[in-house]
Amino acid sequence: MIIVVTGAAGPTGQAVADHFRAGGHTVIGVDRDEVDLLDREAVQAFAARVEKEHGLVDGVVHLVGGWRGSKSFAETSLDDWDTLHALLIRTLQHVSLAFEPLLRRSANGRFVIVSAQAAQRPTAGGAAYAAAKAAAEAWTLSLADALRDTGSAAVILVIKALVNDAMRAAKPEARFAGFTDVRDLAQAVGGLYDRPAAELNGTRQDLTT
Ligand SMILES: NC(=O)c1ccc[n+]([C@@H]2O[C@H](COP(=O)([O-])OP(=O)(O)OC[C@H]3O[C@@H](n4cnc5c(N)ncnc54)[C@H](OP(=O)(O)O)[C@@H]3O)[C@@H](O)[C@H]2O)c1
Repeated sequence: MIIVVTGAAGPTGQAVADHFRAGGHTVIGVDRDEVDLLDREAVQAFAARVEKEHGLVDGVVHLVGGWRGSKSFAETSLDDWDTLHALLIRTLQHVSLAFEPLLRRSANGRFVIVSAQAAQRPTAGGAAYAAAKAAAEAWTLSLADALRDTGSAAVILVIKALVNDAMRAAKPEARFAGFTDVRDLAQAVGGLYDRPAAELNGTRQDLTT
C-alpha cells in the first residue's frame, strides 16, 4: 500500500511509519521541512507529485497536533485559538482536500485523524483545544460522507493522550495512566485495514476503552 503520514518526524509519526514499513508498505512521510501543511499550494503540489508517482494513496494518517490551554474559561487566549485552528483544523483541511481524489481511487483506503476525549468532554480551560478538535472531527465526518460510495473510509481515533519512549525515559516514575503508547496507536491504525471500510467510515474509535 501507499501510505502518507503527516507529522512524520515526531515519535508518533515514526511509530506509524515504522509499523507500515515493517508490513512492506510504501510510506511517504511529510514533515515541515518537506512541506508546510499550512501552505495550500505546497500541499496540492505534494499531492500532485504523489499522484504522478503512484496514481493513488491507500492511507493518509494525519498526525499534526498541538495543545494550548488556560487555568480558567475566562483566561482563555484567543491567540491560542488561532494557533490551534492552524495546527488542528487548517492542516487537516489542506491535506484532506488535496488527497481525497487519490484516496477515492484506492480499493481499500483509510483517512485517519487522532482526536481527544476532550472534544466530547471539554474542560473550562480547554475551550480552544476542545472546539478545534470537535471541528476537526466534523470535517473528517464530511470527508467520510464524501467517501461513502468508495472502498475507502475516514475514521476518527479517540485517545486521552499519547506516550512515547522519550516521555517514559524523562519521567521514569510516571504511570501515564490512560495514555496510549504510540506503538499501540500505530497498531490500531494498521488494524483499520482488517475491518470493512463501510463499517468504519464516519466512526469514532475510542482507543481508551
Ligand atoms: N500528544 C497527545 O497527547 C495527543 C492527545 C490527543 C490527540 N493527539 C493527536 O495525535 C496526533 C499526534 O500527536 P503528536 O503529539 O505526536 O503531534 P505533534 O508532535 O504535536 O505534531 C506532529 C508533527 O506535526 C508537525 N507539524 C506541525 N505543523 C506542521 C506544518 N505546518 N507542516 C508540516 N508539519 C507540521 C510537527 O513538526 P515540527 O516539529 O517541525 O513542528 C510535528 O513533528 C495529533 O493529531 C494530535 O492532535 C495527541
